Amino acid sequence: MKKNIFTLLLLSISLTCTNVPKVATISKENGLKYIGETKELLMGTLMKKIKENGTENALEFCNINAIPLTNSVSEKNNSFIKRVSDKNRNPINKATNDELKIINYYKKKLLEKNELEAIVENNKLYSPIVTNAMCLQCHGEIGKNIQPKTADKIKMLYPKDLATAYKENEIRGLFVVELKN
Ligand code: HEC
Repeated sequence: MKKNIFTLLLLSISLTCTNVPKVATISKENGLKYIGETKELLMGTLMKKIKENGTENALEFCNINAIPLTNSVSEKNNSFIKRVSDKNRNPINKATNDELKIINYYKKKLLEKNELEAIVENNKLYSPIVTNAMCLQCHGEIGKNIQPKTADKIKMLYPKDLATAYKENEIRGLFVVELKN
């Protein structure tokens, strides 16, 4: 009887071990597709808002909607999508140590004029976010690219803002995509 219980115990342990749920693995293709969708949604809405209401009102719009819009694409694709930066505007978007390493890797690649390819590491997909001229009205130099009214609004909404003084074609941060399991 004792032996039987022991066998049963062993059997249940081994069954539990084999029953560990499988972790879905992310592919570059899917990750980049979700990032593409997020970019399209964020950029499309941002451009529309700048055109309709000007930069400083668009800024307010980003303040309220950038994360919810990103989350809407996450939900749709059963994933977690975020934007992070070493010089973050929203404290929520501060890069972790692992993410900082990847940001620095991309900075080096960009300096060496190498292609910036997406990376899959620890089942997460990372893709660099690079500035262009359009970004500078909110992320460039205050007084030069950023109008005083916009600068005031940035200070009001983000007293600890780090995301200014960028030039064109610099690493602004990363998209990080994970799958929900
Ligand atoms: C109208 C102003 C505006 C423009 C133009 C703009 N941004 Fe931003 N950006 C913001 C605001 C506001 C936030 C903070 C959003 C939040 O609170 O979630 C932000 C946040 C970000 C973040 C998330 C990390 C962080 O610092 O919080 C990235 C990455 C980013 N912007 C990249 C860009 C890039 C690249 C461009 C150009 C293609 C751009 N932005 C153009 C206003 C702008």
